[in-house]
Amino acid sequence: MDSLLDRLASFLEGLPVPAWRAFERIGSTNDEALRWAEAGAADWSLVLAEEQTAGRGRHGRKWHTPPGAALAVSLILRPRPAERRWPARLTALAALALYQVLRNMAPTLPAGIKWPNDVLINGKKVAGVLVETLWEADFPQAFVVGMGVNVRKASCPPLHEQAFPATTLEDEMPAPPGRGPLLRAWLEAMIAWRERLADPAFLTAWQEALLWREALLEVESGDQTLIGRWLALEEDGRLRLQTLDGHIHLLPFGEVRLRALASDS
Ligand code: ATP
Ligand code: BTN
Repeated sequence: MDSLLDRLASFLEGLPVPAWRAFERIGSTNDEALRWAEAGAADWSLVLAEEQTAGRGRHGRKWHTPPGAALAVSLILRPRPAERRWPARLTALAALALYQVLRNMAPTLPAGIKWPNDVLINGKKVAGVLVETLWEADFPQAFVVGMGVNVRKASCPPLHEQAFPATTLEDEMPAPPGRGPLLRAWLEAMIAWRERLADPAFLTAWQEALLWREALLEVESGDQTLIGRWLALEEDGRLRLQTLDGHIHLLPFGEVRLRALASDS
């Protein structure tokens, strides 16, 4: 198998990644990154694996990562003031960076971000982002930004594991990128956008990349299900939704599951 690990150093050359740990197989790159952050890893340290046996999505849901077919990567970021203030923007940062990289490679690709943490192509999930925090008392010591991208066909989870339709870059792009160049391009975009995380331009770019802005949405939030329309994105990443009875709801980032009832994409 063509291992990404053998050539990782060349794909990271010249980037401000001070150190990395790369594994043929691991439980979860996010778990490794959290442990490493606790042991003092520097800003932009990176963990990557060819296969995850306990890859995680939100709420402990399983993230399928078979060997050699996906990008499974976690970055350790030491908090900056804007990131402490708006941690949700780090999820957006990773998703937006990937979205822009894919659109640069294929400008007409029907891609977008499904708020809050997934990248879709043709309405199917191709990537997910999971940001976790290492706390010391009430202070975040590090953020771990984990991203999984389905690159080759073999990375697609079996149908019975898809709570939402899934796809891969190989299925959706005539010339899908290799995992190494994709990783590098994503990191470059992350580095550039991180500098602008607090700018209004960041919120605008994020908003423009979001799918379903015109759609009727079904939202599961805790034990309630709401049906309404997207009105706006708040500065802190919450979604402003107007339900059919006219009420405005601010949906907390992170605890919500979204479906489009009548989609615009
Ligand atoms: P949903 O994706 O159902 O809207 P969600 O965004 O909260 O909900 P996550 O926790 O973000 O879901 O992602 C985990 C879910 O993604 C799993 O329950 C599974 O259905 C799906 N999944 C797992 N592995 C992959 C993968 N490699 N590609 C696409 N989807 C996956
Ligand atoms: C989601 O859609 O819920 C997010 C999925 C995040 C998966 C990535 S793969 C690399 C990192 N390690 C994990 O265990 N999860 C993230």
